[in-house]
Amino acid sequence: MIIAIDGPAGSGKSTIAKLIAEELGLVYLDTGAMYRLVTLKVLNDGILGNLDKIIKMLDDLRIDIKQNGFYLDDTNVSEEIRKPVVSENVSDIAAIREVREKMVDLQRKFSESKNVILDGRDIGTVVFPNADVKIFLIADAKERANRRYKELVAKGENVKIEKIYENILKRDKIDSTRKESPLKKANDAIEVDTTSKNIEEVKNEILYIIKQKK
Ligand code: C5P
Repeated sequence: MIIAIDGPAGSGKSTIAKLIAEELGLVYLDTGAMYRLVTLKVLNDGILGNLDKIIKMLDDLRIDIKQNGFYLDDTNVSEEIRKPVVSENVSDIAAIREVREKMVDLQRKFSESKNVILDGRDIGTVVFPNADVKIFLIADAKERANRRYKELVAKGENVKIEKIYENILKRDKIDSTRKESPLKKANDAIEVDTTSKNIEEVKNEILYIIKQKK
């Protein structure tokens, strides 16, 4: 079984996907984290803006998704990939066709013969157009910025909510207007607006949708 959860940054995808995975005994794949890993590698190698070098780097990119976190070159970088510098650059890296081809390939391989819930931007449209259930999560941009702000502050990051709001709007724009696999609702996806709902309400709504589809 494949469940696809797409939507913009901060709409609640990863929180909800994790809870549903636990509840239904599914494997969870955070595809945004994969684009963040590539972005971190680009930043570490100092090759931002150098398309040729980025494409070449993909040949020996070593990323791993383990139970206890996200690995780049055998190092657990789960914290680093959430840093503002990664968020500021990830949408430009994710817009590169070769990066997407490699990530989509890994996502399909990872999901082979498993019951999986994946969250991202293009899961229901490109990665798994035949997914059993497709959800498109949305929320007001101010509310999404507020959620990200609280998450980062809880981690001890020194951030300004205005900056996060700007980053969310910028990522929405790049993600939904890019040529390669733009963020958009699949025709057969069910839209869920999480703006004024708590996590429990959204979880129950999605569990209900999944039950109806089974
Ligand atoms: O989900 P998250 O906000 O961590 O994703 C980071 C970025 O990765 C997104 O803003 C988007 O540019 C990119 N992404 C993507 N396709 C996916 C998942 C994420 O392009 N399936």
